[in-house]
Amino acid sequence: MQAKENVPRSKKRITLTVNGRRVEADVDHHITLAEFLREELDLTGTKVGCNRGECGSCTVIIDGMAVLSCTMLAVEAHGKSMLTIEGLGDDGRLHPIQEAFIEHDALQCGYCTPGMILSVKALLDRNPVPTELEVRTAIDGNLCRCGSVPNVIRAVLDVSRKMTETKGGKQ
Ligand code: FES
Ligand code: FES
Repeated sequence: MQAKENVPRSKKRITLTVNGRRVEADVDHHITLAEFLREELDLTGTKVGCNRGECGSCTVIIDGMAVLSCTMLAVEAHGKSMLTIEGLGDDGRLHPIQEAFIEHDALQCGYCTPGMILSVKALLDRNPVPTELEVRTAIDGNLCRCGSVPNVIRAVLDVSRKMTETKGGKQ
């Protein structure tokens, strides 16, 4: 790591873990985590819809919690570990949640989908067998303009059942 005095006054050096990779960067104090992910790390799967904490399209998982990355400054992510949609899946294979979304036609334009899927992932990590109400509550902050929510709920209940059967409830 470079000496701290080499960081310009307008920036702060942060280190964090993104999708299992350690990242170090000098960031402007005012940029949001969503901007940092998209513009500095080129992780454009994190979408920005409203940019004011209302739509959920910028959801990422930080230390196990679904977080709206447009409401958090990049400097606040220092020391955190996060998962974006690019980090889901394994060796080029889709994650079972992603497969379930395809199988149940749980997306149309797809703009809400990365955030929706990460909210679902955070839910299933802490509660592998949620009720329909718990699924609805978990995705309550993820707005879908295309009306895909009924199919999302079907997809989540289905993948929950399959993952519990085949992997003992582990995601
Ligand atoms: S872009 Fe973050 S909540 Fe809408
Ligand atoms: S699929 Fe279009 S906003 Fe949800």
